[in-house]
Amino acid sequence: MQKWIDSTFDKIVDKFRVSTAKAKEQGLIPYRSEGKEWIGSPFDGNSWWTGGFWPGAMWLLHNATKEECFLKEALRVEKLLVHELMEFTHLNHDVGFMYMLSCGAHYRFTGDSEAHRNTMHAATILAGRFNPNGYIRAWDKDRAGWAIIDCMMNLSLLYWASAEENDPRFEQIARIHADTSMRTFVREDGSCNHIVIFDPSNGEVLDCPGGQGYAAGSSWSRGQAWALYGFALSYMHTGDKRYLETAERIANYFIANIRPDGLTDSDFCQPKDEERIDNIAGACAASGLLDLSDLTEDTVLKESYRDAAIKLLQGIDAHCADWTEETLGIMQKCTASYHNDGAGRHINILYGDYFFVEAICKLRGADAKLWSPMSK
Ligand code: GLY
Repeated sequence: MQKWIDSTFDKIVDKFRVSTAKAKEQGLIPYRSEGKEWIGSPFDGNSWWTGGFWPGAMWLLHNATKEECFLKEALRVEKLLVHELMEFTHLNHDVGFMYMLSCGAHYRFTGDSEAHRNTMHAATILAGRFNPNGYIRAWDKDRAGWAIIDCMMNLSLLYWASAEENDPRFEQIARIHADTSMRTFVREDGSCNHIVIFDPSNGEVLDCPGGQGYAAGSSWSRGQAWALYGFALSYMHTGDKRYLETAERIANYFIANIRPDGLTDSDFCQPKDEERIDNIAGACAASGLLDLSDLTEDTVLKESYRDAAIKLLQGIDAHCADWTEETLGIMQKCTASYHNDGAGRHINILYGDYFFVEAICKLRGADAKLWSPMSK
């Protein structure tokens, strides 16, 4: 096993040395690769929610290798993202994804005071989206009542801010949102909704549409991964056992749905004759399962979560990783949304690579826990 982990890590570093040079040359924030070119975000320019994953990968690789090219690239993109922070117009609850992995990682690894200030600024934006009826508003325009399961990942930014400022307000908001999510998103069998629409004036649940999944009531696999990883993180930050139990229930459901080849269907309820894969979900769940394996006290679960993570990562490596010089990105067969929303189907999407790199770094024992509490 150690041999596979080490050789996969070496292949990642070789590949990313080339793709980092190309991103710098193109001057953009990679969203997906098409052959030997990076393509930027499909919507909202540099404010698109995925902008943090590239600098996040750069920080992980710099931390593991100490190579200067990764550090410089992380800082180049951080500047672009800080510009978006000042612009504000397109930002939403995904400031967690965007700024935990860029400015937040910068501060985590170097203690940089400007990075700290920018991360705190992002946390105040996220806190400002809280509706006192119990949830964090996801998106803008006429969607005041919309919350989405993805937000469980963004909560790390709030927990971080409370710990940094010694001020419980941010954590209180995070915990209220997590409690609402436990009640309204997560189903008895450990599956969950992508979207819940609340009445913004009183918090009553109005609807649970299918969102990026197959249909209302189905189980969009990336949403299951966000929930699994997000509740594990909420437990990590608070020590509240209810979050651990919820993460375990979601994990058990996810594991029961991993395909025999280790790949992940885009939706666990999709029709059997539909070949629709989303390896981002598999890579993200793998990284969350590695944390959950550390967190759970049950020795049987510990082993089964680690085994499942390795099955997912090896499935991707065996069937969907492109290690050649013909492409910049690694992981193929990533799907943004079940009913194609223009963000891509069965292609390379960079944030899938991010979670693959994160999980492999964790397996190597490197500090790859960018969402976790910082040790003081
Ligand atoms: N957070 C949006 C997505 O997972 O596509």
